[in-house]
Amino acid sequence: MGSIFLSVATFLLSCSIFSGFSFSAPVNQEFIYPNFTASNFLFIDSSGVFLASRNESFQAIISQSGQSKNNFYFYVLHVPSNTIIWTANRDAPISESGKLSLTVNGLTIVGDNGTQIWSTPALGSPVTALQLLETGNLVLLDKSNRSLWQSFDYPTDTIVIGQRFPVGKSLSSATSQDDLSTADYRFSLTSVDGLLQWHGLIYWRLSMEPKAYKDVNSPVAYMAMNATGLYLFDGNGEVVVQVSLSQADFRIAKLDYGGHFIVQSFLNGMWSPELEGPDNDCKIPFFCKRLGLCRQTSGSRSSTCSCPPGFRVDTQTNQGCIPSDSHLSLPSACNSTGNGNSSQLNSSTVSYMSLGASIDYFANSFLDPSAYSINLTACRDLCTENCSCSGLFYDSSSSYCYLLNDQLGSFMSNTGGQNDRLGYIKALAVSLPDDNSLDNQRKQIPLVALVLLPFTGFTLLVMLLVLSFLWWRRRGKLPKTSVVKLGSLKSSLSEDELEALSIPGLPVRFDYEEIEAATNNFSEQIGAGGFGAVYKGALPNKTLVAVKKITNLGVQGKKEFCTEIATIGNIHHVNLVRLKGFCVQGRQKLLVYEYMNRGSLDRILFGNGPVLEWQERVDIAVGVARGLAYLHSGCDNKIIHCDVKPENILLHSQFQVKISDFGLSKLLTPEQSSHFTTMRGTRGYLAPEWLTSSAITDKTDVYSYGMVLLEIVRGRKNCLLRTGSSSLENGSSSGGQPSSSSSGIGAVYFPLFALEMHEQGRYLELADPRLEGRVTSEEVEKLVRVALCCVQEEPTLRPSMVNVVSMLEGGMPLGEPRVESLNFLRFYGRRFVESSTIQGQNTGAEYMLDPQSNASETGTATASNPFFSYMSSQQVSGPR
Ligand SMILES: *[C@@H]1O[C@H](CO)[C@@H](O)[C@H](O)[C@H]1NC(C)=O
Ligand SMILES: *[C@@H]1O[C@H](CO)[C@@H](O)[C@H](O)[C@H]1NC(C)=O
Ligand SMILES: *[C@@H]1O[C@H](CO)[C@@H](O)[C@H](O)[C@H]1NC(C)=O
Ligand SMILES: *[C@@H]1O[C@H](CO)[C@@H](O)[C@H](O)[C@H]1NC(C)=O
Ligand SMILES: *[C@@H]1O[C@H](CO)[C@@H](O)[C@H](O)[C@H]1NC(C)=O
Ligand SMILES: *[C@@H]1O[C@H](CO)[C@@H](O)[C@H](O)[C@H]1NC(C)=O
Ligand SMILES: *[C@@H]1O[C@H](CO)[C@@H](O)[C@H](O)[C@H]1NC(C)=O
Ligand SMILES: *[C@@H]1O[C@H](CO)[C@@H](O)[C@H](O)[C@H]1NC(C)=O
Ligand SMILES: *[C@@H]1O[C@H](CO)[C@@H](O)[C@H](O)[C@H]1NC(C)=O
Ligand SMILES: *[C@@H]1O[C@H](CO)[C@@H](O)[C@H](O)[C@H]1NC(C)=O
Repeated sequence: MGSIFLSVATFLLSCSIFSGFSFSAPVNQEFIYPNFTASNFLFIDSSGVFLASRNESFQAIISQSGQSKNNFYFYVLHVPSNTIIWTANRDAPISESGKLSLTVNGLTIVGDNGTQIWSTPALGSPVTALQLLETGNLVLLDKSNRSLWQSFDYPTDTIVIGQRFPVGKSLSSATSQDDLSTADYRFSLTSVDGLLQWHGLIYWRLSMEPKAYKDVNSPVAYMAMNATGLYLFDGNGEVVVQVSLSQADFRIAKLDYGGHFIVQSFLNGMWSPELEGPDNDCKIPFFCKRLGLCRQTSGSRSSTCSCPPGFRVDTQTNQGCIPSDSHLSLPSACNSTGNGNSSQLNSSTVSYMSLGASIDYFANSFLDPSAYSINLTACRDLCTENCSCSGLFYDSSSSYCYLLNDQLGSFMSNTGGQNDRLGYIKALAVSLPDDNSLDNQRKQIPLVALVLLPFTGFTLLVMLLVLSFLWWRRRGKLPKTSVVKLGSLKSSLSEDELEALSIPGLPVRFDYEEIEAATNNFSEQIGAGGFGAVYKGALPNKTLVAVKKITNLGVQGKKEFCTEIATIGNIHHVNLVRLKGFCVQGRQKLLVYEYMNRGSLDRILFGNGPVLEWQERVDIAVGVARGLAYLHSGCDNKIIHCDVKPENILLHSQFQVKISDFGLSKLLTPEQSSHFTTMRGTRGYLAPEWLTSSAITDKTDVYSYGMVLLEIVRGRKNCLLRTGSSSLENGSSSGGQPSSSSSGIGAVYFPLFALEMHEQGRYLELADPRLEGRVTSEEVEKLVRVALCCVQEEPTLRPSMVNVVSMLEGGMPLGEPRVESLNFLRFYGRRFVESSTIQGQNTGAEYMLDPQSNASETGTATASNPFFSYMSSQQVSGPR
């Protein structure tokens, strides 16, 4: 199954790679030889790929990473997952024309101005070839094919299956997806354990993971992964620590830029996380930047950042929190030339700001106390004397004193857990002229005063405004214009805004004016969805984007909006449209997405353009299933799309298929969600439980997916009215009118027709007639059976999206749809035919009726519903 996908992918890939042969250099297979030069420019037609491993699982590339435009790196890519596993020049990016050369002396990268910015170390003998192995290892060979240098010995932030990671080496996190330069998180291997560190402070140990077992006590020599697990081995190759994982052909261990050590396997076209440490974002040292206070949202894995009491967001550097009192400042980093400016350490200028109860620091769980059995005063003195001390924790029950390093990270809110450790942050009095008397008193000013001090003057005014706004809102008397006014107070930074600033993972924030310019004042509309119109635009760097102008949302707090945006922005999957940025300014809320140049599936499937060939339909079906499977089970918080339909499936050249609009249902207020169905007006895809009071689960998306899958098979809307001799009848060679689904006037409720043809095993009659037989019965059967399993009335009978992917890829036998759970289609079908008769040429999608009236299947009409009256009269006369 995987190999089918792989070979399809390889085929598609080679199509795109070899299409531009005549203009640029060809991609080399497995080897390149000395006196070779590559640059992105020289290999522009293959997007910078100049070398591929034998089976094309890996490529050596000179290209950008993520969304970055100008920074080019030489890296090795795992092709099926589009993941960079090794980078040569991560700290010294080159331009498009920067050159990589292979000579007998090794590899070198030369920048624009001719300076060498990276090279392999001096080698023992001349190089005869560079080989890219099928494992992802890049090897320099000598004349007897011995390895002189290999990339596996110089890991960046990733280790792949089969790679040995020895004691003493470390992985360093990248700065971001776009900027691969070395950042501050490290994963390193000691003779005892695998550790995560930040500025030398440990924040996670592999051996603490519940999945990790220590087998023997001998010293560790290296770490490696194979198809069944991750292991720390000793010098004799005996397992010291083992983490057993499920069978997978490809897995990586990666230190991501957020500071997590993640082991994940690549199965069925997506990553499945298998081990992630730390398990809680608040244990990441710099998650909320310097001095930020991390709070885990109860009942979920997401976390929010704020400043501890007495501190405010440092708006100048945006690097965390500073004392709210402008008379206090945090000490600057310790001067290595001795104890620095001794006047800084004068005890009368140093004060300690208490962090209050239940605030803890990540390092406290891993560090030994700096001093034992001393009192708080003595602990403070220790810190005051030491210029590299930036604060302390004092445990009054044990009298332990913990000094904090001068690199301060984030703190965690430790609600619940009893904790006798209290934290204090060192602050220096900024001596302002004619303020000396106050200066001397500062030590005695209680903390309450420190907290209250900033709430004066203008701040108070803003707070008053906010309060009265809230009051008005509560009274329901808020005129629309006041919302705009509040928005225009932007410059004074409302509470909301301050908080939004510190939500981690927020994508790029654009100004409204920037977006206005990018979309040429919203001149080219390319679509309209449930939330508002979509416009085409181009960013200043020429990247095309699709801008969604959200209009159908009520008043919602900026913070809630930004939190959701951060969640959506952090979801990355090849089959999900990427959110590139957003704008929230006054009442304007805009989302900036990557642009998909072939538009949505409905136009391609139902339009008059060239017919979609069967294989492409299958690829689309699999891609959409993967995207949904990822939303349901691949990311931290399960996301239910709620609006799966062809309009939300976008295509791009080179066979990319991506789902859009995911996560947006969370932007709705609860009242809006209850009107969700009417808002969208796409009821043909809504599962029966939408209209009853049953819970909406991921199986609701599965139903919609099943309906879309039927449309992919058929190439027509399920609910499309067809009059006269429809192509459906023309296309079915074996004749025979379907009993109830197709009436004399030619209206067809396709899902019912599909059920009937399934029962009779006549699958070919379901395929799009425009394919003119270029598909086999077995191929159609597969999609139709999966689709019917998905649209079963009983949600628990529907397969999960992960299983749908497996069924489509052949890794799992096809399910058998239960006829009992599909009988409701007969009911819908009859009504559909009826409604078409009545409503004539109405081709809208409102055919799915209230299943709560399922009880009236016997024909009892509800008087209030005119539709039902027609319905029952039709039933009396029976099918024509
Ligand atoms: C590479 O070029 C150098 C001179 O630039 C030449 O001496 C050497 O023979 C060449 N090597 C190969 C393998 O072509
Ligand atoms: C390359 O692919 C072939 C067939 O797909 C497979 O038999 C072979 O084992 C693969 N080689 C490597 C080195 O993975
Ligand atoms: C070349 O560019 C690099 C940065 O890319 C710079 O550090 C170096 O000083 C430049 N050298 C010259 C000679 O301009
Ligand atoms: C080195 O490997 C290449 C390709 O696998 C092979 O053609 C060549 O004969 C080998 N050379 C030696 C000296 O083994
Ligand atoms: C992976 O390595 C462990 C430890 O050496 C070994 O017990 C296990 O059999 C290996 N698994 C595979 C699939 O080779
Ligand atoms: C350390 O102090 C010396 C002189 O005392 C000064 O020149 C240097 O800039 C200081 N370094 C830092 C990092 O403050
Ligand atoms: C020490 O710092 C104070 C103010 O912070 C400054 O006035 C003084 O010159 C500094 N002394 C030295 C030796 O750097
Ligand atoms: C601390 O500094 C103040 C003025 O900055 C000075 O009056 C006092 O004597 C100093 N104390 C010590 C112990 O150096
Ligand atoms: C703290 O301990 C020191 C000696 O270590 C002692 O001189 C001092 O009086 C103690 N302070 C308090 C408040 O107990
Ligand atoms: C200052 O504190 C750091 C840790 O915060 C410690 O490593 C260092 O040894 C201390 N220096 C002195 C002189 O006590």
